[in-house]
Amino acid sequence: MEQAALFQKVFGAAHTLEASAAGRINLIGEHVDYCGGKVMPASLNLCCRVLARRNGTNFVNVYADDLDETARLDLTRIGDYKGLHWGKYQAGVISVLQQAGYPLVGCDLLYSCSVPFGSGLSSSAAIEVATAVVLNEMAGNAYELKEMAILSQKAENEYCGVNCGIMDQFASAMGKKDRAILLDCKTLAYEYIPFELGNYELIVANCNKPHALVTSKYNERRGEVEEALKLLKSVHPAISCLADLTPQAFEEAKHVLHGKIADRAAHVVYECARVKEAAEALKAGDIQTLAKLINASHDSLSKLYEVTGKEPDALAYAARETEGCIASRMIGAGFGGCTISLVEKGKTEAFKAAVGAKYRAAVGYDASFYDTSIQDGVTVKKA
Ligand code: GLA
Repeated sequence: MEQAALFQKVFGAAHTLEASAAGRINLIGEHVDYCGGKVMPASLNLCCRVLARRNGTNFVNVYADDLDETARLDLTRIGDYKGLHWGKYQAGVISVLQQAGYPLVGCDLLYSCSVPFGSGLSSSAAIEVATAVVLNEMAGNAYELKEMAILSQKAENEYCGVNCGIMDQFASAMGKKDRAILLDCKTLAYEYIPFELGNYELIVANCNKPHALVTSKYNERRGEVEEALKLLKSVHPAISCLADLTPQAFEEAKHVLHGKIADRAAHVVYECARVKEAAEALKAGDIQTLAKLINASHDSLSKLYEVTGKEPDALAYAARETEGCIASRMIGAGFGGCTISLVEKGKTEAFKAAVGAKYRAAVGYDASFYDTSIQDGVTVKKA
């Protein structure tokens, strides 16, 4: 059923507004956002779309079209929904908006999400940002998208218990059509860079590994880099985050680190250096250099940060051996999820077939490939 008709059926009235917020890819700068580093995400055509109307009550009713399930969220006791599977992200956003002083009104919301869940394309950020936008629209509040990104991250950290950085929510809220965002996660200063890959196309593939333990492993990595920062401060007292260290300053100080902690910090410091080079390369249209940096990013995530695992490695390496592909790496938190690959125009269909077959042979099940483009992060349309 078409979404407008479904809304009518579920809520017994027509929607008055439609809004969407996007999922994202990240060209480079992985696992550095929570270390004050720079990242280069871009918002996708895959998005969370919400149809909405005010309902004149104290309840926000959130319906998921894929689950055929509604959660009823009482605006007067919004702290009560942390245990929900569906509705938790929306409750978290309501909670932080209320704390920040945004008045909210009861409304009916229908969600359709084309960002695959648990895929490293930030479905949760898309849900959060779309919710923040729609709630403010329903209440007639003035709001800024950058602020909505910050509050959405706060919801995920404080309400949902995921200690994520700012990259996903920022990309979802602030993304622009055919632009990558170069975002400094320490200051939140940002610039847009044309997403122009010359003779290459970006292909997004999902390794379809069943989701497991991502949150605990993610939080474990955050603990490790905080430990590294503490130790490195004994040599460089002026630093406030790992991204403050140049590779040279890191090399002078790394004797205070041991084992895995040293590897984790090395990933962050060198990944930050790669982002700088990658931004220059993208601006200059030097796609070959960008490709080398993307490959180096994956190798570092695999060997030093250890967040890839068998499936993302199999998918990225199968891509890289395939004709026409000059770069491939996992994106997002890792332990599964998606890769991005740069593939010569005209060779993408053959690429998908060849990589799909190699991946199936390596892991025993299929990867998925998505038709993606870089689109505006947020859209709002009155019905
Ligand atoms: C997840 C988090 C982001 C970021 C990436 C890794 O997507 O939500 O904040 O840390 O992992 O780069």
